[in-house]
Amino acid sequence: MTQDEMKEKVAAAALEYVINGSIVGVGTGSTANKFIDALATIKADIKGTVASSEATAERLRGHGIPVFELNDALTQVKQLSVYIDGADEFDAGKNLTKGGGGALTREKIVAAASAKFVCIVDESKQVEHLGAFPLPIEVIPMARELVMAEAKKQGGIPQVRKDFTTDNGNIIIDVTGLTITNARQLEDDLNEVPGVVTNGIFSHQGADVILMATPNGVITID
Ligand code: 5RP
Repeated sequence: MTQDEMKEKVAAAALEYVINGSIVGVGTGSTANKFIDALATIKADIKGTVASSEATAERLRGHGIPVFELNDALTQVKQLSVYIDGADEFDAGKNLTKGGGGALTREKIVAAASAKFVCIVDESKQVEHLGAFPLPIEVIPMARELVMAEAKKQGGIPQVRKDFTTDNGNIIIDVTGLTITNARQLEDDLNEVPGVVTNGIFSHQGADVILMATPNGVITID
């Protein structure tokens, strides 16, 4: 089975977590795109969605799926029913690294506004410790050097993502060389640096359920 087929399978499996009549949070990336395509087949059963990026909103609208602003959605419902998104890495504690597509901040916000986070991945994303994938940090541009210095202090090698601006008008600093043994602590430490909007560790906002595609089928890690 190709990686693309595995993404399709895991995206289809996530439909089971979609609650009829509810507003669904939708992630960003190639696996989330497969989920959007699958969601289109049951679009009449949901009230609508909240998107974690402009790209996701555009794809949802292209399928004729209603997209609400998060603030508008939260005046109608207390929480979104579920947030469905991919990840760049996950560990045994269901901590994630996200933000390969640069949408980490909106992803974290929509995940926080949802009753459940269902993460859809293929088996290549499973790691013992987060850190092999560069850790993205969304940064207000004037704080670039301050944040780069902190990333170095943490043992990482920071690099500004070239020719990239987030949907919020900020830059991304990708940090390589980290072996993350305490994901929650590093998430907190980096987020404390003034100018950091958020970083791509999802420990506070980790997955509730991980659906992992393998060549032999989809495994549920609950
Ligand atoms: C985007 C993300 C994505 O979830 C992550 O990069 C995984 O993407 P893909 O499904 O394409 O591998 O965090 O900001």
